[in-house]
Amino acid sequence: MQTAANAFQAYTGPHPDAVVHGAIKARAEGGTMKALAWFGAKDVRVIDAPIPDVIEDGDVVLKVTGTTICGSDLHLYHGEILAMQKGDILGHEFMGVVDRIGKGVTKLKPGDRVVTSFQIACGKCSYCKRKLSSFCDRTNDSVLQETMYGQRDAGFFGYSHFTGGFPGGQAEYVRVPFGEINCLPLPNSVPDEAGLYLSDILPTSYHCVVDTGVKEGDTVGIWGLGPIGLCTARWCQLKGAKRIIGIDQVPSRLQLAKERFGIEVINFAEDKDVVKKLHKMVPEGLDCALDCGTFHEPKSLIHKAQKLMMLETDVPETINECLMTVKKMGRVGIIAAYAGFANGVNVGAIMERGIRVIGNGQAPVHLYWEEILKDYLMTGRFDTSFVVTHRVPLEDFAELYHAFDKRPPGVEKVFVETKFSNPPSTGYPKLSRVAEWPLN
Ligand SMILES: NC(=O)c1ccc[n+]([C@@H]2O[C@H](COP(=O)([O-])OP(=O)(O)OC[C@H]3O[C@@H](n4cnc5c(N)ncnc54)[C@H](O)[C@@H]3O)[C@@H](O)[C@H]2O)c1
Ligand SMILES: [Zn+2]
Ligand SMILES: [Zn+2]
Repeated sequence: MQTAANAFQAYTGPHPDAVVHGAIKARAEGGTMKALAWFGAKDVRVIDAPIPDVIEDGDVVLKVTGTTICGSDLHLYHGEILAMQKGDILGHEFMGVVDRIGKGVTKLKPGDRVVTSFQIACGKCSYCKRKLSSFCDRTNDSVLQETMYGQRDAGFFGYSHFTGGFPGGQAEYVRVPFGEINCLPLPNSVPDEAGLYLSDILPTSYHCVVDTGVKEGDTVGIWGLGPIGLCTARWCQLKGAKRIIGIDQVPSRLQLAKERFGIEVINFAEDKDVVKKLHKMVPEGLDCALDCGTFHEPKSLIHKAQKLMMLETDVPETINECLMTVKKMGRVGIIAAYAGFANGVNVGAIMERGIRVIGNGQAPVHLYWEEILKDYLMTGRFDTSFVVTHRVPLEDFAELYHAFDKRPPGVEKVFVETKFSNPPSTGYPKLSRVAEWPLN
């Protein structure tokens, strides 16, 4: 699959409308950094890579002071995202201090503390003008993506050549194209363990709730209680949802959601028929069903077989459960990443019951990050300490991927420190080593 995708990209060359590419330029004076790189399915390694330099006038190069692993990285880890190449540096969630700037950068200077959006926006296209940064028309040069989806998303950091091939920030340094647009300066009052998550999970979970139209008094189902699902539950509460039901099978995640937020939960390892259970709990149906799960974990034999035989790339089970449990004219929001095609989606239910299926897309971070910073992080209305459960050194990154994939008890978001990091902030985890974590 990877070979065919890469051969296609090599054949088509870069998209002519792309104004930036995922190139690396080593510094004239040399020097290497530690970085996490992909070498194949379930094969990631910490390598020594060249320290990147500025290429374009708008570039900013950061010294990374904090990074992390995301559920989306697990799709790469499993080799489920097209056009990965051996040696690709991963990581789309990171923060840092400005190290170098291009000639065109006037609003940032070396030493500034910033967080970066997981997407690379140009700042000028019709989407960027509306702050729909993830939908930028000009930063992803993948013809393959346009061929598969009809149009291209923005380029993303550390997320395959299907999204532009930009080296990511699970590294000691990273190049940020259009740095003034894609970096948000952070005030000193916001700790690293909160600011870092403006790169993805806070805007993403917020977008899921806002874009799907969760309103005061709604009854909401949330599939998946990883960092995205948990934060989504918190936003639903802040937006006045009356009743929230979380569905997962990881006991520690179910427990955290129940104890910390008082939401109702369903363990699908015990209650195997989630639809029946939800019909019993909410006979009138959910107002909103939010898919915060994954596309690579089939539950039924039939989808395990179809996926194995490459008859489908993605599993439709969560979407179908959402469709079966929302009320007539209810809303289904899909923030979970999907990559391609799924068999057996219940189109009849969508049409006959007037269900509004909303692909939330890759979240437009720029639309929300200032609002979340000012109204929720700086005021303390959204406290990230519940979701940041561990802190490990960059050297442990490969072990972290292996462990995170197995969902060890109590592990949600992990702050990964580099040699440039500040010490842990009060109220956030101290350093631990992945090898010390208890596994399932
Ligand atoms: N759209 C975006 O911009 C965006 C951004 C970040 C992450 N994501 C996606 O959001 C999803 C969640 O991210 P995360 O970091 O929380 O991931 P995660 O892998 O840590 O958590 C996913 C959770 O879903 C649960 N799950 C899997 N199958 C399920 C099912 N059938 N029913 C109920 N629960 C199920 C898993 O047990 C797990 O706890 C991922 O698909 C990720 O790729 C999307
Ligand atoms: Zn992410
Ligand atoms: Zn743009």
